[in-house]
Amino acid sequence: MEIIKALFVLLVLVLNAVKILSDEGLLILDYYKETCPLAEEIVSRNVEVAVLKNPRMAAFLLRLHFHDCFVMGCDASVLLDNYGDIVSEKQAVPNLNSLRGFEVIDEIKYILEKACPLTVSCADVLAMAARDAVASRGGPRWKVLLGRKDSLKASFDGANKFLPAPNSSLESLIANFNQQGLDIEDLVALSGSHTIGKARCLSFRQRAYDINIEEKYDKYRRYKNFRRILRSICPNSGRDDATVPLDFSTPTKFDNHYYINIVEGKGLLGSDNILVTEDHEGKIRKLVWAFASNQELFFTSFAYSVVKMGNINVLTGNEGEIRKNCRFVNP
Ligand code: HEM
Ligand SMILES: *[C@@H]1O[C@H](CO)[C@@H](O)[C@H](O)[C@H]1NC(C)=O
Repeated sequence: MEIIKALFVLLVLVLNAVKILSDEGLLILDYYKETCPLAEEIVSRNVEVAVLKNPRMAAFLLRLHFHDCFVMGCDASVLLDNYGDIVSEKQAVPNLNSLRGFEVIDEIKYILEKACPLTVSCADVLAMAARDAVASRGGPRWKVLLGRKDSLKASFDGANKFLPAPNSSLESLIANFNQQGLDIEDLVALSGSHTIGKARCLSFRQRAYDINIEEKYDKYRRYKNFRRILRSICPNSGRDDATVPLDFSTPTKFDNHYYINIVEGKGLLGSDNILVTEDHEGKIRKLVWAFASNQELFFTSFAYSVVKMGNINVLTGNEGEIRKNCRFVNP
C-alpha cells in the first residue's frame, strides 16, 4: 500500500515536472549567449537611438510586442506583410493607420543578420525592443526570456478578434485577457503601458461623447472638464486622426501617472476610464489605487506581467522558423 502511494506521488511529481518544462521552461535567459553574444546589445543600442530621434517610438515598440502576443502568440505574426497567401494583420481594425515602428524593427533585424545570420528571431527582437523601449522612458527594466521562433503565417481575423477595443466593457476586457492566460492583475498592470504614447480621436470619441458616462459622472467637475477638452479636440465627426497623449500629465515618461489620471477620471480611452468607473468586486479599483500611490509596486507588477505576456503561445525548438526578413516568411 505504502509503495503504491509512494509511486503515485512520484508519478505526480514527474508529470508536474514535464508540464512545467513544456509550459514555460522553453524560453530562457541569455539564449543567444553562444550563437549571437551581441544580440541584446545591438537591440538596445538601436532602440536607444530610435527613441532619441522620436520619443513616441518607445510607445510604438511596446505596443508592437502586445499586438504580436495577443494574436496567435508572440511569434512576430504582426510583422508579416501581404504576400502570397498571407493577409497582413497590419490591415486589421486595431492596427490600421495606428500600429507603427516597423522600420526600426527592420533596421535592427538587418544589423542582426549581418552579425549572426538566421539566428535571432523577429519575435525575440520584439520582446527585447519592448523591454528597452520601456527602460528608455524611465520605466522598469526586466530580464527578457528568449528563444521564440517566428510564425509561418499571420491571422488577420485573429487581430480583429483578439485585440481589445477601446470601447470594451470591463467584463469583456477581463475575458479578453483571460483568453490569453492573463488575469485581472495583469490587465491592470499592463494597461499602465498607456503612460506613454498617444491615441487618435477615432479611439476616444465614444468616451468623449458617451451619454451614459455623462449622466453618471459629469456631476464630478473634473470628469466634465476633461470631457469638454476632449470634445474640443475631437469633434463629433471628422478629425479622426487628431491625437492626444494617453497620459496628459507626463506623456513621454514611463511612470505611474496613468493611474493617478484615471483615479481623477482623466483616462483617455474608455478602457482606461472603465477600470475605475466600473467595479469588479472592488479588486480592480484597489489595484489602481495601489499603483497610483506606489510607483515601485507598479513597476514590479508591470515587469512580472509583461514577461508573462511574452510567454503567450510561443513557438520554440523546431516550430516555426527564424525569418531572414521580418516582413516575409523565408522562401
Ligand atoms: C487593456 C486593453 C487595451 C486596449 C483596449 C488598448 C487600446 C489602445 C488604443 C485604442 C490605442 C490608441 C491607438 C490609436 O488611436 O492609434 C492604444 C495605444 C497604445 N497602447 Fe493600448 N490598449 C490596451 C492595452 C495595452 C497593452 C497591454 C499595451 C502594452 C503592453 C498597450 C500599449 C499601448 C501603447 C504604448 C499605446 C500608444 C501607441 C502610440 O503612441 O501610437 N496597450 N491602445
Ligand atoms: C465600439 O466601437 C465600434 C466601432 O466604432 C462599434 O462598431 C461598436 O458597436 C462599439 N461597441 C460598443 C460596445 O459600444
